[in-house]
Amino acid sequence: MIVKDFKPVLFDGAYVKGGWTLENYEKKGGYQAARKVLAMPRDPATNNIPAMIEEVKKSNLRGRGGAGFPTGMKWSFVDYKSKKNRYLAVNCDESEPGTCKDRVVVTYNPHMLIEGILICMHTCGIENGYVYIRGEFCVEFQHLVNAMAEAYKAGYLGKNVFGSGHTFHVTPHRGAGAYICGEETGLLSSLEGDRGYPKVKPPFPAVEGAWRSPTVVNNVQTLSSLPGIVNMGAEAWSKIGPERNSGSMVYCVSGHVNKPGLYEMPMHVTLKELIEEVCGGISDGLKAKAIIPGGSSMPVLRVDGKGYKASNGKDLTDDYNIRMDYDTLKNANTLLGSAAVIVMHEKTCMVSALYNLVRFYHHESCGQCTPCREGSGWLEKLVGRIYRGKGKPGDLETLLSVAGQMSGTTICLLADSVAMPVGAFVTKFREEFEHYVQHGKSMIADPIKL
Ligand SMILES: Cc1cc2nc3c(=O)[nH]c(=O)nc-3n(C[C@H](O)[C@H](O)[C@H](O)COP(=O)(O)O)c2cc1C
Ligand code: SF4
Repeated sequence: MIVKDFKPVLFDGAYVKGGWTLENYEKKGGYQAARKVLAMPRDPATNNIPAMIEEVKKSNLRGRGGAGFPTGMKWSFVDYKSKKNRYLAVNCDESEPGTCKDRVVVTYNPHMLIEGILICMHTCGIENGYVYIRGEFCVEFQHLVNAMAEAYKAGYLGKNVFGSGHTFHVTPHRGAGAYICGEETGLLSSLEGDRGYPKVKPPFPAVEGAWRSPTVVNNVQTLSSLPGIVNMGAEAWSKIGPERNSGSMVYCVSGHVNKPGLYEMPMHVTLKELIEEVCGGISDGLKAKAIIPGGSSMPVLRVDGKGYKASNGKDLTDDYNIRMDYDTLKNANTLLGSAAVIVMHEKTCMVSALYNLVRFYHHESCGQCTPCREGSGWLEKLVGRIYRGKGKPGDLETLLSVAGQMSGTTICLLADSVAMPVGAFVTKFREEFEHYVQHGKSMIADPIKL
């Protein structure tokens, strides 16, 4: 179901040249939510605002960085008893292939992010925050820095913000092009000036994060959703979208569609509606074949639904009509992730598409864990061998076995991020892989290779 009259929140006024200034943001009611929250006193014992944490819990906001973890619950896990300073790390690394929403928020609506940061920092009793921004984001970085300068000048960052008596400092920190620095503990290692190596969890950052102090790590879109929650009220916000899948989602649609782009809407929408109605259908008049629903690390969906089962054991026959929310996709053995929808039409060679993916993940493995470092290399070699027409009988079993041994055995989830697509591609499009192994070429006539 497409909610036709839905008014975008994050992208309200986006793409309007100059729309990103403080003046324009305030004309639309900007910073009213932060003023309201900063007027709330913190609990002296814990230096936080339990009522606001409850409010965020009530809104059902789930983290937009990929895992969909409930934000209010994450904030309640912060070690408020610790005597150490607390920190906020804003995740603007956005490196998952297909994902391109945070950069647009930072470019076109940076004050909404800063307002969300203020709400989070005051609620969790934090004085210092960092925006870890992907190194390649040059224009985005400039917009962020300009917006922060405006906020400091207006007294919306710095000392005694809105007369609250509290200080809020935010520092931008540029990454250097490593995908792994989007993983929260890798991000924190990099922020501290070390190599961006992820760390074993627990302890989670909420207990021991930056400089071994309690740290909230949230995605740009997650934090930018907070002003809307405060303005609208958690109850009303929670009612946008299906139950437990609240708020608007920004679908980043790329690949073989007529109108690729970013589309903000409630999560009622089905995949078919998103592709056919919102994105103008599949390009070149062809049919959809495979769609990755949530960024390249999420298991691919087979549009005709053949060849695999849902987690309840039932055959899925119509994946195209699947609802694009966290819970529905999880039940279909995939994930909404960062809502980066990568569309492949019938002329796509799935072997070539997978080869593209495994090369990326092998290159980005930080190398700390043997199953990830070696496993991703083996996967690249095996898929590459098949792709070059030199596949051998048994290669598909070896692929699945290697992928199976990588999941759940490593420090961070990058290993799963490559194992999951391999498992899904080979299982759901097995006939294409078998044909390639047997004949040394794609079964698709005149395929598009990626
Ligand atoms: C390999 C890997 C890469 C990640 N990359 C990003 C990223 O680019 N941006 C992001 O927000 N989260 C990324 N995450 C998720 C973060 O670890 C973390 O869960 C997220 O920033 C938490 O914010 P949220 O609760 O607001 O979603 C990544 C996770 C993994 C395992
Ligand atoms: S799983 Fe891979 S990326 Fe993550 S810590 Fe281990 S080697 Fe590094």
